[in-house]
Amino acid sequence: MEGLDKLRGDWLARIGEAADEGALEEIRVAALGKKGEISLKMRELGKMSPEERQTAGPALNALKDEVNSALSARKSSLGDAALEARLATEWLDVTLPSRPRRVGSIHPVSQVTEEVTAIFADMGFAVAEGPQIDSDWYNFDALNIPGHHPARAEMDTFYMARAEGDNRPPHVLRTHTSPVQIRHMEAHGAPCRIIAPGRVYRADYDQTHTPMFHQVEGLAIDRDISMANLKWVLEEFFSAYFGTKVKTRFRASHFPFTEPSAEVDIQCSWEGGTVKVGEGDDWLEVLGSGMVHPKVLSAAKVDPAEWQGFAFGMGIDRIAMLKYGIPDLRAFFDSDLRWLRHYGFAALQVPAVHSGV
Ligand code: DAH
Repeated sequence: MEGLDKLRGDWLARIGEAADEGALEEIRVAALGKKGEISLKMRELGKMSPEERQTAGPALNALKDEVNSALSARKSSLGDAALEARLATEWLDVTLPSRPRRVGSIHPVSQVTEEVTAIFADMGFAVAEGPQIDSDWYNFDALNIPGHHPARAEMDTFYMARAEGDNRPPHVLRTHTSPVQIRHMEAHGAPCRIIAPGRVYRADYDQTHTPMFHQVEGLAIDRDISMANLKWVLEEFFSAYFGTKVKTRFRASHFPFTEPSAEVDIQCSWEGGTVKVGEGDDWLEVLGSGMVHPKVLSAAKVDPAEWQGFAFGMGIDRIAMLKYGIPDLRAFFDSDLRWLRHYGFAALQVPAVHSGV
C-alpha cells in the first residue's frame, strides 16, 4: 500500500507536538475514530485483491498499533508534565514552625473541683447539684435557720428583687451549698452519699472574700454513720488532695444544721510567710461539719429515728489557694489573662486519684 510511511510520519509528528490532553484526543479521533484517516484506509482493504490485502492488512494493523501506543505514551508524558507543573506551584514546607495559636487554660477552681470530685468519687460519693437561686426555705428554714436566727444576718445574703405586690416566697442567691442536702434527700431519700460543688454568694469583699465563691458540700446518710466516719473521710480526702499525710483537728463549734458540730483544722507550718500543709504544728481552719440535725432530716422527709449521718461544707477557692500557693482570692475572678496563664492548668492535666495532681 502506498503512502503508509508518510502517514506514519505525519501522525507520529502530530502526536509528538500535541500540547495537552485535549489536543491529543482530537488527534486520536482524526486518525483512528470512525471517520479517521487510518480507519478509512482500513476500510479500503475490502476492495483489494487477496494478494494486495495480504501485505496491506498487516502493514495497516501495525500502523494502527504504533499510533495507538504513541498516543498513550504521549498521554502519560503530558500527565506527568501536568503533575510536575502542579507540584512546582503547590508545594508546602513541612519543616516550617507552626503558627502560634492562643491556648486557653483550665481555671484553678475548675481544676480543684475536678480533683475534689475524683477523690470523693473514689470513696463512693456521687455529685449532686442544686440551683444558685433558691428559695429562702431551702437556703435557711429547711436547714434549721428560722427567720429570726442571727445566721441569716451573718451571711450577708443577696435577696432577689420582688415587684410590689408579688407575694411569692423570697428567693436568694444561695449563701452556701447546704440547700443541696435538702434537695437531694427530698428527691432520693436515704441512704445517700454525695458531694455538691458549686457557686455561692455573699455580700463581702476583701483579700479573702469575694461576693461569689465556691463551696463543696458533703453528705453521708445511713443507719449507723458517725463522727468517726466523718473524721476518716476528711483525713483521707486531705491526704489525697495535698499528696501527703494530713492530720486534722476537730474543734467543737455550732451550726444550726448539725448537732454536734465541729470546725475542722488541718495541720500546717508557717515559714517565711508561706503555709505548708501536712507538716509543722500550726492549724488552719478549712471547713465546718457535724452530724446532720434531726430537724434537717425531717425537713427533707427523711425519718431521723431511722437515719443519721454527717455533713460538711468546705471552701473550694480556699483549698485551691492553699495547694497552689495563690495569695489573693480576688484575683480568681478578675479574668486577668496573665494570671490565668500563670495559675491555669493545661487541658490535658486531668485530675485522677492516681495522677498525683
Ligand atoms: N454551710 C456552712 C457555711 O457555709 C458550712 C457547713 C458547716 C456545711 C457545717 C455543713 C456543715 O454541711 O455540716 O458556712
